[in-house]
Amino acid sequence: MALKSKILVTGGAGYIGSHTVKELCNAGHEVTVFDNFSLGRRENIDPRVKSVIEGDVRQSADLAKALPGMDVVFHFAAWKAAGESMDDPYKYTENNIFGTLNLIKNMIDHGVLHFVFSSSAAVYGNPQYLPIDEQHPTNPENYYGYTKLAIEENLRWFSQLKGLKYAALRYFNATGYDVNGQIRGKEKNPANLSPIVMETIAGIRPKMVVFGNDYNTPDGTCIRDYIHVNDLASAHLKAMTYLFEKGENLVVNLGTGQGSSVLEVIHTAQKVTGREVNFEIVGRRAGDPDNLYAGTALAEKLLGWKAQHSDLESIFRSMMKVYLD
Ligand code: UFG
Repeated sequence: MALKSKILVTGGAGYIGSHTVKELCNAGHEVTVFDNFSLGRRENIDPRVKSVIEGDVRQSADLAKALPGMDVVFHFAAWKAAGESMDDPYKYTENNIFGTLNLIKNMIDHGVLHFVFSSSAAVYGNPQYLPIDEQHPTNPENYYGYTKLAIEENLRWFSQLKGLKYAALRYFNATGYDVNGQIRGKEKNPANLSPIVMETIAGIRPKMVVFGNDYNTPDGTCIRDYIHVNDLASAHLKAMTYLFEKGENLVVNLGTGQGSSVLEVIHTAQKVTGREVNFEIVGRRAGDPDNLYAGTALAEKLLGWKAQHSDLESIFRSMMKVYLD
C-alpha cells in the first residue's frame, strides 16, 4: 500500500463523510472531496484536503474531473431517510442506485478499482436472531435498505467481472459529533433520534415524540445500537488498509454490540446536558423493529476495530459542543 493514498470522498461534506475526511487527513492521506452540497456543509470540510469538487455522482462529466489518478473512492453521497424512501422511492433509486452504479462504471473506466461503500444495517430488515451478524439473511423492510442491498449485489458482480475490490460497511445507528469539536455544522433536517433529542434540548424544536412504548423491551421503547461517528470514521480507514493489504472484499457490520432504548437515550441526554427533554409518547412508527444490535466479532477479527467513543454519555458530550455552545 502506498503510505499516502489518493482518496476521493463522495459526500465528503456530509455527516459521516466529513468525519471520515478528517480521519483520513489525520493519517496523512491526500483527500479530494466530491459533493453536490445538497446537504453537505463546506464549513465541515477539513482544511487539509487537497481539493473540493462540486459535482454529482450521476454526472459522468463531473466524475471525469475527479477520478483520474485516484487509488480509492469512499462513497457516502446518498439519501438516508428510511421513512422518506417509502414515500418517495424514486428519489432513492436515482441517487442511491443510479448514482452509485454510474460512479462504479466511471471508476472502472478510469482504472480506479478500490471502493469503500457506506452500507447499512437496514439491509437485514427485521431481525430473526440477535445479535445480527453478517450471516443474518438480508430482507430490507424499507426501500432505503433495499438500495444499499442492491449496490452490495452489484459490487459482487463488478468485483467478479471487472476486478473491483470493495468494502461494504453496514452501519448500525450512526450518531455523535467529532469528539475534538472540530466539526460543528449541524446536519440539515435530521430524521434520527439523537439529533432530534439535541434539537429539542437546544430549543430548535419545541418538543419531540417517542414512537411507541409498548414494544417487547424492558422499558417498552425500541432498542438500537448507537455507534459514534468518530468510530465509524476510524473503521473506514482500517477498511481501506484491509483492501490494499489483503486484496480481498469485505462485508462487515459496524456497531457496538450493545443496545440502548429510546428512553435510555433521552435520559442520558438529560443527564449529560443538565436540561430537560420535552417529549411525548405517541403511537408506533411503521416499520420499527423492537430490538436491533450488531454482532461485532467479524469487524474485530478482520479490522482489529472496536468502538471507542460510543457509550451514550460520550455521544451526548460530543453533541453538546455542536448544539449548545
Ligand atoms: N425515534 C423516536 N422519535 C423520533 C425519532 C426516532 O422515538 O423523533 C425512535 C425510532 O422510532 C427508533 C429509534 O428512535 O425506535 C431510532 O430511530 P432512528 O430514526 O434514529 O433510526 P432507525 O433505527 O430507524 O434507523 C437508523 C438509520 C438507518 C439504519 C438503521 C440501522 O436511519 O439508516 O439505523 O439500525 F439502517
